Amino acid sequence: MSNKRRYIFIFVGVLLVMILVPFGIHRIKEKRDREETPEYVFLYAENQIADYPTTQGANRFADLVFERTDGRIKILVKPDAELGSEMQVIQQMQYGGIAFARISLSQLAEYIPEMNVLQMPYMYSGPEHMWRVLDGEIGDEFLLKTREHDLVGLSWYDAGARNFYSTSPITCLEDIKGMNIRVQESDMMADMVSALGANPSKIVYSEVYSAIEQGIVDGAENNWPSYEAMRHYIVARYYTIDEHTRVPELQICSKAVWDKLSEDDQKILEECARESALYERTLWAEREKSSREVAEKSGITVIELSPEEKLRFRDAMASVYTRYCGDQMDVLKAIMEY
Ligand code: GCU
Repeated sequence: MSNKRRYIFIFVGVLLVMILVPFGIHRIKEKRDREETPEYVFLYAENQIADYPTTQGANRFADLVFERTDGRIKILVKPDAELGSEMQVIQQMQYGGIAFARISLSQLAEYIPEMNVLQMPYMYSGPEHMWRVLDGEIGDEFLLKTREHDLVGLSWYDAGARNFYSTSPITCLEDIKGMNIRVQESDMMADMVSALGANPSKIVYSEVYSAIEQGIVDGAENNWPSYEAMRHYIVARYYTIDEHTRVPELQICSKAVWDKLSEDDQKILEECARESALYERTLWAEREKSSREVAEKSGITVIELSPEEKLRFRDAMASVYTRYCGDQMDVLKAIMEY
């Protein structure tokens, strides 16, 4: 290469570096600025502890949204019911005070009574049946229905099956008769427990441990991960596997917040919610096993309800079907046959 060509070559190289480097730095700075000052900062309410599957699902959701909006939307996940009980959170979401939450369907059904049909006792033949329903058009329709109530349903999270646990054993219907049983702040749940001959007590989730410890109630009902994560197994040492309900959870957004966002952002939120739900469901399966192990290792007694007793529980609870789904028999039938 002649000296002249070499000089031209070096000159063009230096020129390119002078133009491109500042441009690159500018782009990086622009991106960093955007990440440091998001356009929106939203709160996400979660009443479970930090390492619970639903909370980890929420964190995944927040990360995905941050990534896919280039840092324009930042979601701050607040676990441990820091933002209030589920009922309080729903109320605040209806006015846009809290943007996102993961809420148990039992609680949401207090606001959207039609939702009760998705949590009828002994309705699903197993988890596969429930997921066929929720991931199919019935589930989609119910997510849309939330919009009539100032909320936007985004995705379904898993919460397994619920079972009774107590301070004395429940092996048959007679055992639970007359017991004081904690239920969620849900009329359907209260009626279901009354139908068994027990006395329901509506107590907020965070207070269940002390209610059992102080003898205010003789037991409660929930899935394995809640029983373990909230340390209920320390105070209620008998866990009866009767799987009376499968109550899914919903990820929801406040409609007041949703309506302020662009269609593109809404699409991103929906996508990320659904992806985070798939992640939560895998974590759920693992946590169900490990929670049971923790409780069993502590020496609790696990009681498997016999098929005959299960039928008796089921028959006793049948009255809630007509009370809560009387005007939705077609939906109920569709769910059962799905
Ligand atoms: C489940 C659910 C919670 C709910 C709780 C309850 O653990 O994940 O959101 O509050 O049930 O029984 O209250």
